Amino acid sequence: MRRLREEIREHNYRYYVLDAPVISDREWDTMFRRLQDLEAMYPDLVTPDSPTQKVGAPPLDEFKTVEHAVPMLSLQNAFDAGEVAEFDRRVRKMLGKDRIEYIAEPKIDGLAVQLVYRDGVFLRGATRGDGRVGEDVTSNLKTIKPLPLKLRGKPPAEVVVSGEVYMSKTDFAALNRKREQEGEPLFANPRNAAAGSLRQLDSSITRARNLKIFLYAIGSADGAEFKSQYEALEGLKSWGLPVNREIEVFEGIDAAVEFHARLEKRRKELDYEIDGLVIKVNSFAEQETLGQISRSPRWAIAYKFEPEQATTVIKDIVVQVGRTGALTPVAIMEPVQVGGVTVERATLHNQDEIDRKDVRIGDTVIVQRAGDVIPEIVRPVKEKRTGRERKFHIPEKCPVCGGKVYREPGEVVARCTNMSCPAMIKQTIRHFASKGAMDIDGLGSKLVDQLVDKGVVHTVADLYALTLDDLVALDRLAEKSSRNLLEAIDRSRRTTLARFIYGLGIRHVGEHLAQVLAERFQTIDALEKATVEDLVEVDEVGPRVAESIRNFFDEPRNKHVVDELLAHGLRFGKPARRTAPGPLDGKVFVFTGSLGDMKRGDAKRLVEALGGAVASSVSKKVDYVVVGEDPGSKLDRARELGIQIVAEDEFKKMVSREGR
Ligand code: IVH
Repeated sequence: MRRLREEIREHNYRYYVLDAPVISDREWDTMFRRLQDLEAMYPDLVTPDSPTQKVGAPPLDEFKTVEHAVPMLSLQNAFDAGEVAEFDRRVRKMLGKDRIEYIAEPKIDGLAVQLVYRDGVFLRGATRGDGRVGEDVTSNLKTIKPLPLKLRGKPPAEVVVSGEVYMSKTDFAALNRKREQEGEPLFANPRNAAAGSLRQLDSSITRARNLKIFLYAIGSADGAEFKSQYEALEGLKSWGLPVNREIEVFEGIDAAVEFHARLEKRRKELDYEIDGLVIKVNSFAEQETLGQISRSPRWAIAYKFEPEQATTVIKDIVVQVGRTGALTPVAIMEPVQVGGVTVERATLHNQDEIDRKDVRIGDTVIVQRAGDVIPEIVRPVKEKRTGRERKFHIPEKCPVCGGKVYREPGEVVARCTNMSCPAMIKQTIRHFASKGAMDIDGLGSKLVDQLVDKGVVHTVADLYALTLDDLVALDRLAEKSSRNLLEAIDRSRRTTLARFIYGLGIRHVGEHLAQVLAERFQTIDALEKATVEDLVEVDEVGPRVAESIRNFFDEPRNKHVVDELLAHGLRFGKPARRTAPGPLDGKVFVFTGSLGDMKRGDAKRLVEALGGAVASSVSKKVDYVVVGEDPGSKLDRARELGIQIVAEDEFKKMVSREGR
């Protein structure tokens, strides 16, 4: 057991401190498991410094306060190169030297702690508190994986070190994602998350948060002879304590200032947040000469980065309508500098988000830019409220077209229901002309852009009024292609009711459902008049879909477009009520790999026309898996479940006339 403990500790050191593991995670797990098993068999032989003891302790009622062995100082800040030069001038003057050796370390944005190791074993740790007394968070610190419970080598009898506990950006994002799903309030940033996690009375919660730590100072270590901060950091590492790797030593301040610029550029790449550079006089003898003023050392300065958060005021909240008709509230703010750029707009995502954060027009808010992402509002500063702030509500009418806005129960997004809303007309036309719908060949995306941008087409009905002159007037459209397009449009006048219904782009009405509706209602008029109650009676139509269809036709502009289309001579062959079962009735297909010259959409339509259905993933309900070239994991799954596998050729036979 002793040997296992030592080996595991050594591997932890290689992993967390040297960043150079020599065994796989799997091998480590095996060793760790073996030690746990032995400890379970021989509980008397468990030592408190065993690597297995990173489990914390029973919940506390409150934290004890402890006086720090060495007071924890704070740092003076510098916000630009001028202030750093000023710091350097003072240092040079006091030391009577031209050039100082500095060491520069990232300023980790977490929370400061001080730890005590006695006889090499972790004894106690506390938060910074007021610098003199802090809260005893020993059991929580014990759960931090990179922090050893026992030091390596031959450390002095008592070692006091300080450092920064932090949460990685990755863990922070995952934590907030989980909290969002569970409806719990989100943490504003990794630092708050780290603080909230370290100050948990129940250390099992802390443990689950996967906190990390970097040590950056030795408070006291009688007997250890370090002459500089650089040596001290090397010493920390040799004892197995994790030290940040982005640390450099410079002659003269200019190089440190240059390092600041370099690190700021790389800030995004690091998986932990840093808010600046700490520049320290390297020599301990010189540090001693310089001493401290009040609670900050004269030998160090925090050279901050451009803040990624700032405070400003929301002047208004406006609504943007996206290409799919989704309404997005956007805050218009007093312009403010965040992370080096001016910010005056920030998305508020949706009404729920606004309600959750309780953001109001007139509020003072904290905005942030994390990396390159769009600025976002972290929270309102409620203390600054005057009572004149106004709550915002998503409008009932679309701000772009005045169309009816509908928000489905259980959905966060509100949408404009007018298919001809200028915000989404391009999408509407593309969908209407697509293969599964009206199948208008030659009406590509670029052409749709032009027709809409030039104001030639405002609704899908306008397509049927296009003339040759309209088309040849467009950029790069030759007469030949114009004629072809007009023919294709004309051809689409004779279609099926199912394709037409699908082409309208009613939310939740896909090709299959359009077919079902066409069969059930037989005419577009009957569908238009159907009530929610009528609709839910149809097999496969639930309340959500029924509401969506009803909402669509309740928007008068949509009804108008349908009437216009009919006036343009659109005619549907009566959809046959399917009486005789189709040859593939009830059969479920899944496709994997590419089907040579046949498009997936066409294959799907063929199957459906013969009464079958197409699923997107393999399950027990599937009858056939059709395998094309380069099949994916669906094929493996099909084999696992023993589902009939059909080659491309066989499939083509099944759906062709000869095959039946
Ligand atoms: S040295 C006397 N080094 O910054 C020197 N501090 O105001 C004391 N911090 O909350 C601090 N990274 O926790 C030092 N590499 C670093 C640091 C660092 C982050 C924090 C520290 C304290 C604040 C100092």
